[in-house]
Order: sequence, then structure tokens, then C-alpha cells
Amino acid sequence: MTPPRKLHIKSYGCQMNVYDAQRMVDTLAGEGFVETASAEEADLVILNTCHIREKASEKIYSELGRLRAAKDQAASAGRDMSVVVAGCVAQAEGHEIIRRAPVVDVVVGPQSYHHLPQLLARAKADGRALETEFPVEDKFNFLPQPSPQAIRARGVSAFVTVQEGCDKFCTFCVVPYTRGAEVSRPVAKVVEDVQRLADNGVREITLIGQNVNAYHGDGPDGRPWPFGKLLHRLAAIPGIVRLRYSTSHPRDVEETLIEAHRDLDALMPFVHLPVQSGSDRILAAMNRKHTAADYRRVIDRLRHARPDIAFSSDFIVGFPGEAEEDFAATLALVDQIGYAAAYSFKYSPRPGTPAAEMQETVSTADMDARLERLQGLIDSQQSAFNRAAIGRTVDVLFERAARKAGQIVGRTAYLQPAHVMASADIVGKVLPVAIDSLERYSLLGSLADPRSTSASGDAREPALIAPPQAVLGA
Ligand code: SAH
Ligand code: SF4
Ligand code: F3S
Repeated sequence: MTPPRKLHIKSYGCQMNVYDAQRMVDTLAGEGFVETASAEEADLVILNTCHIREKASEKIYSELGRLRAAKDQAASAGRDMSVVVAGCVAQAEGHEIIRRAPVVDVVVGPQSYHHLPQLLARAKADGRALETEFPVEDKFNFLPQPSPQAIRARGVSAFVTVQEGCDKFCTFCVVPYTRGAEVSRPVAKVVEDVQRLADNGVREITLIGQNVNAYHGDGPDGRPWPFGKLLHRLAAIPGIVRLRYSTSHPRDVEETLIEAHRDLDALMPFVHLPVQSGSDRILAAMNRKHTAADYRRVIDRLRHARPDIAFSSDFIVGFPGEAEEDFAATLALVDQIGYAAAYSFKYSPRPGTPAAEMQETVSTADMDARLERLQGLIDSQQSAFNRAAIGRTVDVLFERAARKAGQIVGRTAYLQPAHVMASADIVGKVLPVAIDSLERYSLLGSLADPRSTSASGDAREPALIAPPQAVLGA
């Protein structure tokens, strides 16, 4: 028997890339590859790249420099090492990668990695680097399912792609170019994937896509299903106790999704709803297709449907033309909404996007200062949100043994890590935890009487941060 070949894969960027990396591992498992944590000893190294900001993109070239040394070393030991660049940088600048980095054997975009075994064989036979084109086929029809062992090894929480690509064309964003047009997977395929995961011990599913709430996959009735209807169907699958989704666009929050938040205990009351800016002028320049007031209204509707709901968001500071008063509008919006968490980024012009043609008006110093102020505000909201859990009993889905002996870690409905001392057999269960302290971002507590919160989902206590009345009434 030939020994297994070793595969090292490194993913950058969003959850979709994490998911794609797992599917590449599943595809290559069929070719006898097993994963290794060390790039140096691998026979195949895959960099699954992200193009969203310049920093993310440029990192790849220094990584490839290091791999060149590793590949040379392998060669002098008589060993063959192949290097693949996958993901969004591969899609956006495949030619350039091959030109700048001769160490690369194959460049493969996010829609073509199901062909990896054939591409690797061809690159080897041809003795030159290969770049793939956007195929017209649906990769999901070709990808092998993960084995039951692989599913169990990945834990109680799993991602499932429901939709890919984006038709929104925000002026700053590369995603519509790297991931292509918006395509939804059929309901039956998603149900099949979730069922298989649930049968192998998965308890929490995060439905992922660039814009999941634009979902309109074909239903078994031959009609396109809206996202809320899909959520209802998935919540009925035995074993699935928690459902989440990411990312969504404020414009596409439709009634079935609001109803799902009202009706489904399994649908977690924590929603990532990026807004980018609080200024209508900047939102228009970004082609976000909504105003700050539209966004507040969406938040209000969700809060009325599910009073314990909390939100996270994404922000960009320093977009071309952003004046002090525009930035002040962003701070005001954050103040009004009250976030449990949020990510904020300095604007980074991306080649090929409309915003890259706009005159940049915000100095680096101003961008830094704005980012710091925004992050300060978000941090204080996040800390207040986390502190509000102290003294409460909240449901936790336990995931694995923690670093400290005897401790098990899980997550609350709001994705806060929560630690208790308990036996390992609680992994995979949702149990109430009395929270007594907070250590940085982690909650510490002890298992509580199971009757102290609702049995199936999370106790519907009022929001941990009460939204300002002005917002609820708007
Ligand atoms: N599909 C998601 C966003 C994916 S990108 C959505 O629509 O919300 C994740 C985040 O990166 C975006 O929400 C945005 O805040 C940030 N981002 C995207 N392009 C950027 C750029 N050119 N410069 C800085 N941040 C950017
Ligand atoms: Fe990018 Fe906008 Fe699409 Fe999100 S909605 S992926 S930010 S174009
Ligand atoms: Fe990055 Fe592509 Fe995701 S650009 S954020 S890896 S969709």
C-alpha cells in the first residue's frame, strides 16, 4: 500500500473560504490525501485566498516566497511538492500569480476546485502552470460528500452553502467579480446536506453565502422558495437545534425571514447585517441601495418579531468623499442600534471596482483616527452586551473540551464562548448555564437546572441591550 500523501491547506477571508477548503479536503481525500498542519512536509500545499482588501491579497505573494524555499528543499530531498493557489485572488489575478510566482503549479477559482485532481495531474504531465476558467457547470454536482468520520471530526457546528455570488455590485467590492453572479442551490440539495450532517452528530448549521437572504432556490414544488421558507424546512430536520445564517443584505430582508425569526426557536436571535456607513450620501456612493433609515426600519421589524435579537455589522471608514459629518452619521447610527459586535475596516481601493476610479479624499491619518473612534464605540457596546450576561442563565451549545483540564466550552445564542467545568459527554447538547463572570470575551459559569430556560431553544428574555425607544418607535 502506498503511504497517504500529505495535504496542507491554508484559508484566508470569509466563511465561504473555510467551507470551500473543507470541500477541497473532501475532494482530495478520494485521491489518498490526508491533512497535515505543516506546509514543509506536505506533498500538496493549497493557499485558499481572499481578495477583499489589498492587505489580504498581497499577503499571498510573501507566503508564496516562503513556499518556494520549502519546495526547493523538498526537491533536494527527492520529494515532489505541488503548490495551488485557490480562492478569490486566483479568480481575480490568475495570470499575474503565474507570472510573479513560478512556484505555483495550479491556479483555480472558487467555482472550479472540484477539478483539482485532474488539474494537478495535467500540470504535472504538461510540466507547466495551469490556470482554470470560470466553468458553466455547478460544482456541487461534482463534489463528493464528506465521510461520516470527517463530519464528526469537524465538530457539532457546520457550514452549508445555500447561495453563492452577488448581484448587488457595491462600488467598493470585488465579490461580484470573484464569486460571480448570484446562484441559489435547490432546496432538496440543501436539505440533503443538512440531513447528512445531522445524522453524523452536527447540531448547529450556519447557512452561508455572499448574500444568503437573496436566496431563491427551486423548491420541491417547482417554485423558487424564499429564504424564510427554507429555514422553516431545515428547522424540521431532527437533530438540528440551532440555525444561523451569514451574510445578509438589508435590502433583502423579506417577510418570510422576519416570520422565521418570530416562529422558529432554532433560528438564533443573532444576525450579522452589514450596513457599511450611517450616511445616506456615502451609502448612495457605495451603491448600497438602502438609506440609514431603511436599515433602522429593518432592525425594528426584526426586534419586534424577536425581542431578544442582537445584531452585528460591518463598517467601512474613509470611503472616497466621506466627510467628518458623514462619519458622525455612522457613529450616530451605531449609537442608535446598539451592536453586540461589529467589524470595521479602512477603505481599500480594489482594482476593477467603480470606487477605485473615485478620487480618494480621506488621508491615512484621518482614516486611522476614524477607525479608532468607531472601534472604541463598538468595543464599549460589545463589552456592555457581554457584561449583561453576568447573573443570567443562558443556553449554551457545548462544542469541545477547553484548554483548561476539565473545562468544556460552548457558545451562547450570541456566539459568546462560554466555559463550564463538566464531563465531556455534554458536547453536542444545549444546556442552561448560570453565568457568573466574564474573562475578556469569554463567559464563565456553571451548569444550571435544565428547567431554568426553555428546553429546545434559548430563553426568550428581553434583549440583553434594550434598544433605545427612539429606534423601536421609528
Ligand atoms: N457579502 C457581505 C460582505 C462580504 S465582504 C455583505 O454584503 O455584507 C465583508 C466586508 O468587507 C464588507 O461588509 C465590507 O465591510 C468589507 N469590505 C469589502 N470591500 C472592502 C474594501 N474595498 N475596503 C474595505 N473593506 C471592504
Ligand atoms: Fe460585496 Fe455588496 Fe455583494 Fe456584499 S452585497 S458581497 S459588499 S457587492
Ligand atoms: Fe474574500 Fe472572496 Fe470571501 S474576496 S471575503 S474570500 S468571497
